[in-house]
Amino acid sequence: MRINKYIAQCGAASRREAEKLILEGRIKINNKIVVDLATNVDEYNDTVTLDGNIIRPHTRFVYAMFNKHKGCICSVKDDRNRKTVMDYLEDLKDYRVFPVGRLDYNTEGLLLITNDGSICNKLTHPSNEIPKVYIAKTRGKIDEDKLKELRNGIMLDGRKLSKSKIKLLEEKDDGECKYEVTIFEGRNRQVHRMFEWAGKEVLFLKRVQIGDIRLGGLARGKYRYLNKKELTYLKNI
Ligand code: URA
Repeated sequence: MRINKYIAQCGAASRREAEKLILEGRIKINNKIVVDLATNVDEYNDTVTLDGNIIRPHTRFVYAMFNKHKGCICSVKDDRNRKTVMDYLEDLKDYRVFPVGRLDYNTEGLLLITNDGSICNKLTHPSNEIPKVYIAKTRGKIDEDKLKELRNGIMLDGRKLSKSKIKLLEEKDDGECKYEVTIFEGRNRQVHRMFEWAGKEVLFLKRVQIGDIRLGGLARGKYRYLNKKELTYLKNI
């Protein structure tokens, strides 16, 4: 980005005034005075100062939700060049967004996307106990005594899980069972491992809600910006 535009985006001066500041030798990039008005700034890596004080553009925070589908990697880059969520967020890339937490390769559903590290920490820190709601399908019902133990929190990796809510939503004639599972932390493959502990394989898993934010009818592979109500919820965590 041109240096005068950068200075203007920082709110330090208008573009024209910025040119004056440059010609007066008051602007430095990485500790070197710049006098060439055609200089470009690498807005992510360069440090720009005006009279010795660092200036930075106002960051525009972005908050969106994405409906991840099966077979999509939940990270910014994949070393095997497979499709990642970022391939579906082309228009948001410039904002340096990233997914909040992760979903397994074969898990579908709600993924929050932001460039606000502080909100990301709030959403993922276990002490905040943000409820995450999943729909899980298995073959056959989980035994009642096992369900009780799961709800109370079983041991995983030598640490007890916090309590969870598990509700049977549907049992089909062919034995397929649909559960709503609410967990309050986010351990690796947590729902899969809870069900495996109960002797049931998860056939399908989809996250439908995080805190007050619901996936609703958003199509697979699509994203949308969060609305005012959802933003207010995030800011109040
Ligand atoms: N639990 C899982 O097992 N997988 C996910 O992707 C999320 C929660």
